[in-house]
Amino acid sequence: MTTATTSTFAESKALAKRIYNFSAGPAYLPEEVIRQAQQDIWSIFDSGIGVMEHSHRGKEFTRVLGEAEADCRAIGNISDDYAVLFLQGGATTQFATIPMNFLGEGQTADYPDTGVWTTKAIKEAKLFGNVNIAFEGSACQYDHTPTAEELSLTDNAAYLHYCSNNTIFGSRYHTPPQSGAPLICDMSSDIFSRALDVNAHALIYAGAQKNLGPSGTALIIIRRDFMETGKDGLPIMFDYRKHAASGSCLNTPPAFGIYMMGQVFKWILAQGGIGALEKRNDEKAKLIYDVIDNSGGFYRGISQTACRSMMNVSFRTPSDELDKKFVEETLAQDMSGLKGHRSAGGLRASIYNAFPRKGCETLAEFMTEFAAKNG
Ligand SMILES: Cc1ncc(COP(=O)(O)O)c(C=O)c1O
Repeated sequence: MTTATTSTFAESKALAKRIYNFSAGPAYLPEEVIRQAQQDIWSIFDSGIGVMEHSHRGKEFTRVLGEAEADCRAIGNISDDYAVLFLQGGATTQFATIPMNFLGEGQTADYPDTGVWTTKAIKEAKLFGNVNIAFEGSACQYDHTPTAEELSLTDNAAYLHYCSNNTIFGSRYHTPPQSGAPLICDMSSDIFSRALDVNAHALIYAGAQKNLGPSGTALIIIRRDFMETGKDGLPIMFDYRKHAASGSCLNTPPAFGIYMMGQVFKWILAQGGIGALEKRNDEKAKLIYDVIDNSGGFYRGISQTACRSMMNVSFRTPSDELDKKFVEETLAQDMSGLKGHRSAGGLRASIYNAFPRKGCETLAEFMTEFAAKNG
């Protein structure tokens, strides 16, 4: 028998300090958003009821949802040709929902495999139909995204699925892969961090926990005419048309996740939108990449330079022992989450939209000193 934990509930107390969290996700949220949430959890819109306690059919939550959608459309310049959905189950549920809807019998879908998350998406898609691995990234240890020449595409593919930013290996596409098939993108780790062309896509999806809010909720942007081509007879929770018709309220929606995404959207707009964030993100990443590039080979990037991610800087020191020492020493200096993913090893600094520039400067300084001492 396991013993239950004893809990003491905190009385109101001064806020504990926050440290630089380089985690790949769940990740840093904007401080302004957390402070607003602290108030709205207690009572939102002066209603005397917290955001998590309101009925999802009531006027307060309807306002939360309406504002979240409107702000999302404003950020991404998303026209009414697209439905904007907030669904449960994270990005992984989309790995299955997409082929369930759009991979018909006898059809093939193209999936370039650029890392762990596309590998998982491929495995799910294979449960429902034929998959063509349009690029085999494992052959180059996932050190780059494919060029047009490296892609082997299927004629009349049902769709092409790609992942814009590879969270683990730290690589990204500069522009979406070119294909005549409807384009579907897993944008979980770089949505709204750089310019994006929604109109080039049939469907974009993103788990929230990197650039949008708490885990568990996914944002789906889906072209309505493409959505209508989905298969019939699906369980309602896997049918995009049913979700769109109910305005993301087919059942009780992930209300707090949607509220938080809405607050993050307001924060993005207040920062000046995607353009301003992209500039800031490029500068933040450069601080760290410059140390890697000027370290005389002490640090080595995992991705090829040409397709480096601005969200996940994945790199190594000369040895596993030094990687371990790096993690221990950064932790002692209030920088957490720098250990690389188990499948790539090494180190990784995840620096999404909300991650502060000061944290990148602090890490860059540490890296320079660490190389000088251990090189
Ligand atoms: C690119 C990418 N896709 C999908 C996922 C899986 O997301 P979720 O945990 O929301 O299912 C992740 C990791 O969180 C990711 O980085």
